[in-house]
Amino acid sequence: MPSYTLNVNGKDRPVTVSSADMPLLWVLRDVLNLTGTKYGCGIEVCGACTVMVNGEPQKSCDMDVSSAVGKRIVTIEGLSPDRSHPAQKAWIAHQVPQCGYCQSGMLMATACAMQAGHRGASIASELSNVCVCGTYQRIKSAVTTL
Ligand code: FES
Ligand code: FES
Repeated sequence: MPSYTLNVNGKDRPVTVSSADMPLLWVLRDVLNLTGTKYGCGIEVCGACTVMVNGEPQKSCDMDVSSAVGKRIVTIEGLSPDRSHPAQKAWIAHQVPQCGYCQSGMLMATACAMQAGHRGASIASELSNVCVCGTYQRIKSAVTTL
């Protein structure tokens, strides 16, 4: 079985997986137990599995583990040590989540947009993540304050 070292949330993490084309999503959830990243569609549509890779949003269902080697991966668990990222604070202030399932992907996509220098309402137009609960209006309100 292939073994790799992945840089996740600032730490090098050795992983052994069943195959080199195992999606990063399953390595994060099942090997590293970072279950904040969610499986939604598995076909690169819903965004529930979004993580940050080298500062860019990446659907982790669409990245082989072997392609993630040598890159900086950040998951929702690593976004801030104490949930104090501005997007997390805005989400709390605007009571965005309902069931919460999609929200880590939403937050990671938002954090990537902020890292790219985008602010306010323009972030909302960049988010393509799907929320089955329909929290879009609250997300729009929250990102307007960023
Ligand atoms: S699970 Fe990856 S985009 Fe839906
Ligand atoms: S809050 Fe439930 S799917 Fe988005």
